[in-house]
Amino acid sequence: MRIAIASDHAAVDHKAAITAWLVAQGHTVQDFGTNSGASCDYPDHGLPATVAVAEGRADRGILVCGTGIGMSIAANKVKGIRCALVHSVDTARTTAAHNNPQVIALGARIVDAATAVQMVDAWLSTPFETRHQRRLDKISAYEDTHPC
Ligand code: RB5
Repeated sequence: MRIAIASDHAAVDHKAAITAWLVAQGHTVQDFGTNSGASCDYPDHGLPATVAVAEGRADRGILVCGTGIGMSIAANKVKGIRCALVHSVDTARTTAAHNNPQVIALGARIVDAATAVQMVDAWLSTPFETRHQRRLDKISAYEDTHPC
């Protein structure tokens, strides 16, 4: 898979650990930064990564900041994107099955890097349960018919 990844300064080490695991699994990783511990703004990295998914230049997106919250708020502003904020292996697995998110966000101050990798693995390896599709369709229909 082509996977877009981004972090802010709070999550550079988590991004590196996730990237190393993805590459070892044979995925192609597009890194949208940041790549230093210097303070930055999570939308500057998370939004370009999410747009890459929305535009079909990446298949999935992974966003990491301190809590994952800012990244998830930003990513869910991108039309057509469902970004799930996950905080455990179980929530990563369940959102794959129920919400089919193209993007996940997680917090480097919430889970350690090894757990973050397990969460990514759970999300990527869990199939969507199509019985939930009508709920996703309602979200898409709202997005398509409401300007705000
Ligand atoms: C940066 O200090 C922090 O606000 C950011 O990483 C994230 O937690 C925002 O939601």
